[in-house]
Amino acid sequence: MFQKDLLQGKRILITGGGTGLGKATAQRFLELGAEVYICGRRQEILAAAEQELRERTGGKIHSRPCDVRDAAAVEEMIEIVWAEGPLDVLMNNAAGNFLARTEELSLGAFQSVIGIVLMGTLHTTMGCGRRWLAAGRGGVVLNVTTTYTTTGSAYVVPSAVAKAGMQALTRSLAVEWGDRGIRMNAIAPGPIPTEGAFSRLLPRPELEEAAKKRNPLGRFGTMEEFANLAAFLVSDGAGYVNGEVVTMDGGEWLQGAGEFTALGRELTEKEWEMMRPKKIVPKA
Ligand code: HXC
Ligand code: NAP
Repeated sequence: MFQKDLLQGKRILITGGGTGLGKATAQRFLELGAEVYICGRRQEILAAAEQELRERTGGKIHSRPCDVRDAAAVEEMIEIVWAEGPLDVLMNNAAGNFLARTEELSLGAFQSVIGIVLMGTLHTTMGCGRRWLAAGRGGVVLNVTTTYTTTGSAYVVPSAVAKAGMQALTRSLAVEWGDRGIRMNAIAPGPIPTEGAFSRLLPRPELEEAAKKRNPLGRFGTMEEFANLAAFLVSDGAGYVNGEVVTMDGGEWLQGAGEFTALGRELTEKEWEMMRPKKIVPKA
């Protein structure tokens, strides 16, 4: 769906790029000509992803362990990347999440998720943003958020508050830095099967079936669909898209207050027949 050289010459860092959506996006960016850096905490996962993606695409890929919660480690990573040349695109994809009853969470549990999602995004964004501004050159940031940032969500509260903050950061800096050539956008995906997300959030297979059924399209999203949207948003063709949170969820979030949606899906033909208007014959 894209020209093969869409991202030729672009240098892109993807946090959490060794697994799941980050890895699939790294592959798509490489196929479209970009040079890609991936980071995460686990060295062996990153090294395996780097090798696999290099063999699969023949592209230029580098990996480096880095915990995005650690501001100094992020600064060191960005300094090393910049020594080889400035980045053009930063994709904040690293995340932490788990299903839990909020009243049972420790302070450490909140700090862990907020540290990865919100503070991690802040560390990388400030590291790249300050360099872009100092050099008087533009850049693109793409943040990966969720569909529950506006409504919030029970049982994933640290993630909901952190992703809402990430979204506010996206919109705030889109306005503040826009006149200096920096575009900031986000993707809010609905459920897309990855080991990282589904093992933590959907503990039983039958819950997956229920989740599919709830979606207007009756299925989950795919990593390819996500990666294609990401490629478009970071490309120059999307140059006027700024401060946008693009939802990619099959229409799921729109069902929020649509209390008849699930009910309508359960009705039988006979029941639909019963609901049809009866002809009212006026009495003479
Ligand atoms: C309650 C938990 C917990 C759980 C960890 N903690 N798991 N509390 N329920 N299931 C607490 C620990 O007790 C500890 O608190 C603190 O959190 C940190 O835990 P650690 O295991 O030491 O942390 P760490 O090794 O850094 O792991 C971070 C993590 C883990 C977030 C806890 O889940 C992880 O590595 N996640 C990365 C990948 C990921 O989550 N992917 C899914 C993204 S999906 P104390 O007080 O003891 O220190 C997503 C959106 C999906 O974001 C939307 C779908 C529609
Ligand atoms: P995933 O495979 O678990 O991806 C998370 C990545 O973040 C992992 O590679 C992980 O690697 C990295 N990471 C975690 N903590 C980190 C830290 N402190 N420093 C650096 N890297 C860290 O899950 P995914 O489904 O692909 O999720 C990718 C993004 O999509 C996330 O932002 C998630 O919130 C979002 N999302 C996913 C879905 C979905 O249905 N899949 C839906 C909505 C939003 P290490 O563990 O090696 O550090």
